[in-house]
Amino acid sequence: MHTRGFSATVLGVLACLLSSACSKPGSNDTASSDTPSPTAEASTTMTRSPFGSLPDGTALELYTFRNASGMEVSVTNYGGIITSLKVPDRNGALGDVTLGYESIDGYLKSSPYFGALIGRYGNRIGNAQFTLDGTTYKLPANDGPNTLHGGVKGFDKVVWNAEPFEREGERGVVFTYTSPDGEEGFPGTLQARVTYTLTDNNELAFDYHATTDKPTVVNLTQHAYFNLAGDGSGDILGHELTINADRYTPVDKNLIPTGELASVAGTPFDFRTKNTIGARINDDHPQLKAGGGYDHNFVLNRSGDGLVLAARVEEPKTGRVMEVHTTEPGLQFYSGNFLDGSIIGKQGHVYAHRTGFCLETQHFPDSPNKPSFPSTTLRPGEEYTSRTVYTFSTM
Ligand code: GLA
Repeated sequence: MHTRGFSATVLGVLACLLSSACSKPGSNDTASSDTPSPTAEASTTMTRSPFGSLPDGTALELYTFRNASGMEVSVTNYGGIITSLKVPDRNGALGDVTLGYESIDGYLKSSPYFGALIGRYGNRIGNAQFTLDGTTYKLPANDGPNTLHGGVKGFDKVVWNAEPFEREGERGVVFTYTSPDGEEGFPGTLQARVTYTLTDNNELAFDYHATTDKPTVVNLTQHAYFNLAGDGSGDILGHELTINADRYTPVDKNLIPTGELASVAGTPFDFRTKNTIGARINDDHPQLKAGGGYDHNFVLNRSGDGLVLAARVEEPKTGRVMEVHTTEPGLQFYSGNFLDGSIIGKQGHVYAHRTGFCLETQHFPDSPNKPSFPSTTLRPGEEYTSRTVYTFSTM
């Protein structure tokens, strides 16, 4: 079923009437339309609408939040997927800056993690196994010999419990999921909670929290694909990128870090000053060959544990700017190298080679097998917390 447009709005209103979560004083949810007038002074809205169902009949939902300046995000409880993120350009016109599908069918059929919440372990664990406290845990291999993004059925493919909320200046949804002991081979019952918040300052924030009842490893992230042109067309090679990292983690032929922290100086990985994504992407550099472009973890420059600027992206034609701040030590910059035009996404857009990029905040890939990397171990009684904020503006 096509879940957008007028029918979705009506269904959203009906769902809202049945759910106190949507009806908050001062919000204007029942009067909203799906296509806000671009420059109008928008009122904040929250809607909750059906988003199809799983083959087993489980009904899914879509939550759409709009802030005071008209920025709007839609997320579903299936995989915590961001299905749409509409952001103003320098003239105030909204454009959807994420890749994905209009309905659940696309996500169920084939999705390279478009917009998804990733767990239990973002990126790769080499040879699909790790040893913790003397016990070796075997995981499903779903990426050659490796485990990628939590395995065959990672957090991107589970139905999350969802609680929408609205507070002064911000609104969003709290996703919770209990991953049973042994799910996808990982030890311990993991209680995961991820809060998506859209603020009136055009920030989209992700707060991750997890606890376990047995020693385990955890590394949660968000896998949105961005194209700041906002019209679903063209590649991302002209986007201008800055990454706050002096070092990155080179990879072997299976995209597993070698363990080295290499300097970016004098290489195509030096984004300490602004450069286009495309300027050096086809350079004759062994690491670009290994990744088929950029698909690497950057070691963020930081002192202390707080939020630091990880990256800034500018799209010169529309003037859209995105900044990423995080508490994480690493950032996976993926330039959409596996997109090959075989996916037809929203509004019939063909997702050709490098038409979207990801900036996934994370602990380093394969940390469970790399004792020298910052630890991803979580033990009973400890709390895993992580925060990432994507901030949108224009220039
Ligand atoms: C991550 C990985 C990439 C690729 C994408 C999904 O960014 O690092 O190699 O697997 O996810 O296609």
